[in-house]
Amino acid sequence: MRAVDIIARKRDGFPLTKEEIEFFVKGSVEGSIPDYQISAWLMAVYLKGMTIRETVDLTLAMAFSGEVLDLKEVAPLTVDKHSTGGVGDKTTLVIAPIVASLGLPIAKMSGRGLSFSGGTIDKLESIRGYRVDLSVEEFKRQVSEHGIVVSGQTAQLAPADAKFYALRDVTATVPSLPLIASSIMSKKIAAGTDVLVLDVKVGKGAFMKTLEDAKNLARLMVDIGRDVGKRVSAVIADMNQPLGLAVGNALEVKEAIDTLQGRGPQDFVEHCIVVAAEIVRLAGKARDSRQARSMVEKALKEGKAWEKFVEWIEAQGGDRAVVEDPSLLPQARYQEPLLSPRSGYISELNAMEVGMAAVILGAGREKKGEPIDHSVGIVLHKKIGNYVEKNEPLLTIYANDLSRLEEARKRLLGAFSWSEMEPSPPPLIYEVIR
Ligand code: URA
Repeated sequence: MRAVDIIARKRDGFPLTKEEIEFFVKGSVEGSIPDYQISAWLMAVYLKGMTIRETVDLTLAMAFSGEVLDLKEVAPLTVDKHSTGGVGDKTTLVIAPIVASLGLPIAKMSGRGLSFSGGTIDKLESIRGYRVDLSVEEFKRQVSEHGIVVSGQTAQLAPADAKFYALRDVTATVPSLPLIASSIMSKKIAAGTDVLVLDVKVGKGAFMKTLEDAKNLARLMVDIGRDVGKRVSAVIADMNQPLGLAVGNALEVKEAIDTLQGRGPQDFVEHCIVVAAEIVRLAGKARDSRQARSMVEKALKEGKAWEKFVEWIEAQGGDRAVVEDPSLLPQARYQEPLLSPRSGYISELNAMEVGMAAVILGAGREKKGEPIDHSVGIVLHKKIGNYVEKNEPLLTIYANDLSRLEEARKRLLGAFSWSEMEPSPPPLIYEVIR
């Protein structure tokens, strides 16, 4: 078999066999297929697509390209969630302790933010001492002792994805359904959990811009999961405007803490309840969605989820004092309101623009590996559907550098549109795919 023939077959629109896909993935990881051939193949897949059968074969070849965790040794059933990313998406910080407090061990590997989209690992690093680099042994021990762990992706798991993703990033081949689905699901299969709820975001601040694409991606990932014997479902959620009010690492940790203490913004609380309840239902802890929801609401209301959060952060090396007193989180030097230039209803609040403003302030990175500033970001005071008077604050900018603050201010102003008529806000959840 030769890599060049496999590239040519995909270029000409033919489906690849399981053997061809396995040969290509193996050669990519071992280094016998050079980056220029992998890049050409990725572009051919991007342009010609893949059948479901090819996508399943690709996912499995990627999942088994490295170590595959066996969590059965530490817990009979483990759960996981995965968000396809967005702006203000601090959901793991709330959902993980909720489900763990209900007796469902959650074992999660998370990523860092890139471009407008934030990452859970960056957020958690705002907490002094929190370790994101657990070894596989430490990861398993924490699941067994505390029923909750959130660490960075280890290099041993699905190395084919790391290789492909780095090349996709620089060859304009990220937004491809089979490549995204295989990238996400290969890591999830290698991480060894039994139950997975996918939080597929759609809209201006998400990878998927249309509901149709989001549904297709969700269905594809649910099908792949079912094929390998996992219980998987997907929640399709809006990401046209940021989720909650806070955007930026320490600011989002604070909002998660507020939420666990019963003071979260309504949209964010509702989103966390829906996803957590879906995990509880899918794991078989509840009879139906209604019972799952009431269990989740109770865990939040009675403080069980908050207690689990503190236990988790401390077990993973984080300073308990910081989460008990969020004023000890990194703080930005400047706090400046952005005033509304006119009165009216907010009709648009572009999540991607808010995410890019956060990157300008230093909360995110343009290129992998760049350092970030955990203290900076944005806290919204108005969202779509709210009325604002002229000169009333739309949001507060948290910055450490005045020139970046000015640049972010301009970008943020462009994120808003106003209307005379009251618009209806976008729905929070579009559909749950099971
Ligand atoms: N998240 C991933 O892990 N992979 C993709 O390809 C896109 C989003």
